[in-house]
Amino acid sequence: MQPTTTGENRTGAAVSEEGVQAMLQANERWAPAEAPDTTLAQADRCVFIMEADSVGSIPPPVTIQGMLKTGLDKIMGHRPDMLMDKIGERIAFERTGTRLYDALILKYEALTEAGGVPAMPVPLDASGDDVASTLQRIRAEEHEHFLMLCDVMRSLGGDPTAQTPCADVAATASMGLMQVVTDPRTTLAQSLNAMLTAELTDNAGWELLVALAEDAGNTELVQQFQRAMAEEDEHLITVKSWVSALAAAPATTVAA
Ligand SMILES: [Fe+2]
Ligand SMILES: [Fe+2]
Repeated sequence: MQPTTTGENRTGAAVSEEGVQAMLQANERWAPAEAPDTTLAQADRCVFIMEADSVGSIPPPVTIQGMLKTGLDKIMGHRPDMLMDKIGERIAFERTGTRLYDALILKYEALTEAGGVPAMPVPLDASGDDVASTLQRIRAEEHEHFLMLCDVMRSLGGDPTAQTPCADVAATASMGLMQVVTDPRTTLAQSLNAMLTAELTDNAGWELLVALAEDAGNTELVQQFQRAMAEEDEHLITVKSWVSALAAAPATTVAA
């Protein structure tokens, strides 16, 4: 007997009514009657949390002793370890941001060529930039931020290639974003949604870095970080406007 078709998946394969019913029945038959008791698993996790080592450490010379020797404590405030760790985190994030935009630009170009991208707004102050050149500009700014932070790290006596603990955590947290954008099946809207998560995190990260530099009383760093934060503000507004435009697109396309 020919199964009754109830819809299509992305590849156009039919999903039958019988298949849906079988899944619902299996769910009813095998689902546990009561919510599982996770008390033992939680107790185990608590033991692991208390016994685990930390994710990593700040490499020398960013130890208090090293700082005092080099005189860097004067320009890094009372939490130099935190400032260095957060600069390391932003280095990791801006590097990933550059790669995210590389992947997004490729997807945008492929879908545009296929004629599947509806109109998207361009930033008001971008004087004639189209979406493609806006994407290239944002990508270039992410890369500039990465290079600037590497210079700052070196000027403070740190190693920009070292993975600080927060850099390690940030890299792990952003792995899913990269998977979304590089997945050939995701639409431009879905990819932009991942970029929105990245830009929101990026903005909050720069705000914190500016606050840490202010706390350290390092005016030069504050100004450099504020310039980057202003660009990140604009990235966020732009990406948000693109997500809204694609959500409001009249029909489902390969882009939306
Ligand atoms: Fe960024
Ligand atoms: Fe950004």
